[in-house]
Amino acid sequence: MNLRALITDAGQLGWGLVLHARAAARLERLLGLWIFRVNVRSLANLPHDPLPRGVTVRLLNETQLIHHARDPRYCLASRFIRRAMSRGDQAYGAFEEGKLVGYTWRSASTAPFFNGLWLKVPTPFIYAYKSYTLPSHRGRGMYGALTSFTDRQSRAIGHPMVLTLIDIANIPSLRASAHVGSRKAGYAGYLKLFGTCFTFRTPAVRAMGVELYAPAREVRSTKGRSAGVTPDPVVASRQALGIAAVLIERFSVHCRILAASICVALRRHYSNVSP
Ligand SMILES: CC(C)(COP(=O)(O)OP(=O)(O)OC[C@H]1O[C@@H](n2cnc3c(N)ncnc32)[C@H](O)[C@@H]1OP(=O)(O)O)[C@@H](O)C(=O)NCCC(=O)NCCS
Repeated sequence: MNLRALITDAGQLGWGLVLHARAAARLERLLGLWIFRVNVRSLANLPHDPLPRGVTVRLLNETQLIHHARDPRYCLASRFIRRAMSRGDQAYGAFEEGKLVGYTWRSASTAPFFNGLWLKVPTPFIYAYKSYTLPSHRGRGMYGALTSFTDRQSRAIGHPMVLTLIDIANIPSLRASAHVGSRKAGYAGYLKLFGTCFTFRTPAVRAMGVELYAPAREVRSTKGRSAGVTPDPVVASRQALGIAAVLIERFSVHCRILAASICVALRRHYSNVSP
């Protein structure tokens, strides 16, 4: 564990939130299970939030994005930009003193998710994804400024609702989303086992039509239907047993590591205190 990063994060977010985020991230990695909170926001009554002083927001074109992608601080890849633009996605940037300090993407069709999975955006939603604020500008409401501007643009082109999926370990993003008035619709995510992703979503998210899928190879959905596969009950129960066995195995490995670390710590402690 990087103690310095932990202390820095605790200074910004508070110990409670930081420990919660670290525990959630660790559990996700340990179990191979990634859970995302599905947030929705109505664009019917948008508050008129003024932009922070000296900040402007505008739509970015491909040339501008490719230019910024040369700077690794922006975590943007040219290939990602070209593909997103060819699908019709839009990117908006927040500028301070002429410098790009944050951006966000919007898609009304499909968008890359994580681990090779994609997200199908249901009508009439627009999907807000890949939001980013430069570390030097975080915690200053840039996300809210971008969102306020972008929401108006999305509403103007006919979308009444915004959709976001946020990793439950990503506390800054969950808080930023809460600040702009998003509410929880449910959860979705995936379990990665032996290189295969098994997707899941809660009933409300399913009813909305939100779907995670792998475009190139088949994703086995835990419900079978979203991938267009008719589930065979015998195969499904074998899969469920297999998943349970792997989860138990991963959990027991973690417990053994924890127990071993405690033993080592206790041994060191008692060897130090004994004469
Ligand atoms: C998520 C993200 C876009 C939020 O942007 P932002 O402009 O900092 O948003 P806000 O100013 O509204 O701050 C949101 C939360 O960030 C946290 N925060 C505050 N200062 C921070 C800092 N210096 N560094 C990191 N996070 C900070 C706080 O929890 C804050 O909520 P609070 O004001 O209720 O305490 C930004 O943290 C980011 O780029 N993260 C990395 C990329 C990412 O995770 N994107 C989201 C993918 S869904």
